Amino acid sequence: MPQIHSTKPFLDVLSGHRQPVPPIWMMRQAGRYLPEYRELRAKAGGFLDLCFTPEYAAEVTLQPIRRFNFDAAIIFSDILVIPYALGRSVRFEAGEGPRLDPLDTPEKVKTLASQADFTKLEPVYEALRRVRRELNPDIALIGFCGAPWTVATYMVAGQGTPDQAPARMMAYRHPEAFARIIDVLVENSITYLLGQLKAGADVLQIFDTWAGVLPPREFERWSIDATRRIVEGVRKQVPDARIIGFPRGAGALLPAYVEATGINAVSIDWAAEPSLIRERVQNRVAIQGNLDPLALIAGGEALDRAIDDVLANYASGRLIFNLGHGIQPETPIAHVEQMIERVRAYKG
Ligand code: CP3
Repeated sequence: MPQIHSTKPFLDVLSGHRQPVPPIWMMRQAGRYLPEYRELRAKAGGFLDLCFTPEYAAEVTLQPIRRFNFDAAIIFSDILVIPYALGRSVRFEAGEGPRLDPLDTPEKVKTLASQADFTKLEPVYEALRRVRRELNPDIALIGFCGAPWTVATYMVAGQGTPDQAPARMMAYRHPEAFARIIDVLVENSITYLLGQLKAGADVLQIFDTWAGVLPPREFERWSIDATRRIVEGVRKQVPDARIIGFPRGAGALLPAYVEATGINAVSIDWAAEPSLIRERVQNRVAIQGNLDPLALIAGGEALDRAIDDVLANYASGRLIFNLGHGIQPETPIAHVEQMIERVRAYKG
């Protein structure tokens, strides 16, 4: 019997129904590998101007959809808009990544606002409303925030570092001050995610890019627990909210993360071990991932083989095809096309 096909295969996977052809999108699908993005980015001036001009943010969100017809669009913004709305200084220097005023002592933490100024985030909501109006109803719209741990790593260090040592150190030395940062982020992220749902997001993703630098006890406290509180807080208002978690690098801690947080799907990085994922993660929630972004840059037969591995490992269960982390700026567009064609030709 043919499988019932709903308007949104992406949402169906999250609701428990495997799709014969896995839905596909890419983390960081709007970005510098696209010439049309680079053009609008130059016109907007700063990166935050691009995020906070609804017309531009909506356009950049739709660019990869027009070009590739992905099954989901992710709203163009950044995880660091929350510290920005909390009144912290947030700047994006060209070619250098984000720069914030370091929040690295208990004295400084005392000055942290408890409430974000959500009028600053109104442009993100407006961009979501615009995208939802223009987007084909078959395509899901994803809203997002950073997980408290990952956002805190940038707030404490004031920038990205190879292993986010400043935040790890602060969590050991000043656990109460650090917990205060996490609590503020949990509460404001709940409000922000609810605002995104109200503005038209169908799904939410919580990016915990730096989860993998934590030892198990710290992972439990700062990654799992903070994410669980966000999921609970959102579902208290919107009981059927669909939420994807991305605890990058969580490895063998993924089953615990999935069980404790209550998310509907987990995004896995390319180092995940397939039998652990199938037997202890995919049996509970949908999987999203996990092509190595470097295979996508390499292209050719290496790319075909890497795509086939993801499909062979996970497409017999609930799968949203994606990368194991964001697409990199040097990725050739033709390789993205090769990937989509091969995934959509899957017969499983
Ligand atoms: O996925 C999308 O297309 C939506 C937009 C999006 C951006 N950032 C735009 C962006 C999303 C979902 C993010 C999430 C984000 N931002 C994360 C978590 C996901 C991940 O990739 O790990 C993190 C850690 C950040 C913080 C951040 N923003 C960093 C470290 C940087 C600099 C590194 C880089 O990729 O340039 C940014 C800047 C940023 N955010 C850019 C884009 C398109 C590049 C800015 C530019 O155009 O100059």
